[in-house]
Amino acid sequence: MSIKKTVVITGAAGLIGTSFCNAVASNGYNLVIADNNEERSELLAAEIRSHGHEAHACIFDATRADDIQRLLNASLERFGNIYALVNNLYIRSGNYGADFFDVTYEDFSKNLSDNVTPYFELSKRFARHFCDSKTGVIVNIASVYGAIAPRFDIYANTNMTMPVEYSAIKSAILHLTRYMAKRLKGYNIRVNAISPGGILDGQPEAFLNAYNDNCLSKGMLSPEDLCGTLLFLLSDQSRYINGQNIIVDDGFTL
Ligand SMILES: NC(=O)c1ccc[n+]([C@@H]2O[C@H](COP(=O)([O-])OP(=O)(O)OC[C@H]3O[C@@H](n4cnc5c(N)ncnc54)[C@H](O)[C@@H]3O)[C@@H](O)[C@H]2O)c1
Repeated sequence: MSIKKTVVITGAAGLIGTSFCNAVASNGYNLVIADNNEERSELLAAEIRSHGHEAHACIFDATRADDIQRLLNASLERFGNIYALVNNLYIRSGNYGADFFDVTYEDFSKNLSDNVTPYFELSKRFARHFCDSKTGVIVNIASVYGAIAPRFDIYANTNMTMPVEYSAIKSAILHLTRYMAKRLKGYNIRVNAISPGGILDGQPEAFLNAYNDNCLSKGMLSPEDLCGTLLFLLSDQSRYINGQNIIVDDGFTL
């Protein structure tokens, strides 16, 4: 009998993470829900288990290296193996969404260290484990705005913008993906990224209309629309895809 593979998803209790968790657990993986929101994580784990799947909530703070190590140890203890890490979390500071000229040195620095450093530290510690077990998959969730300059016009007449630090964070994550894929040569470890376009979450109609005009069919996507790509990157079907970024955006970036 083959061992059930374990997938650790960070930011798992959020909008996209919840869909990822349902998809991963219902496709036969052991699931670790790694998030700092205890209530939502435990609820999600209980719901997934009620459908007969394996799910364990591990509450951790991604800005603490000791918590990252505790997550790794707890996942191994609970399921006996770790096959994949999905870096999905995003830490939103109080000043998220400020206009370019209003972003301070301190805000910019804090946002970068809060969001790039955990992806690095999680990947480094899990990759060390994958090197020992000679197998592993890392999937980084980036964004279309790591790949292209913002379409500022779609934010006109709304109180939204595309923050400069978000673009910097997501492009850093895309390049970290390439760096790690190459650095881990020889260990049977794959590191890839998914760059989603905008995800439906109660945005104002004016914004949705402007956004959807740039797309080819549906427009802004639902979290479930990303799950097929994640399952593909976790599976052997993507065995020779490494260091790549798959954009899932209904053509928004074309
Ligand atoms: N929503 C979108 O439109 C969209 C589009 C493109 C890319 N993305 C990316 O997809 C990913 C998921 O986005 P989302 O919209 O589901 O975000 P979300 O805000 O709904 O979820 C983020 C999760 O991270 C958790 N978290 C926050 N700080 C943490 C910490 N210090 N330690 C551990 N967990 C912490 C939160 O509790 C939350 O459950 C992010 O990387 C985001 O940048 C989102």
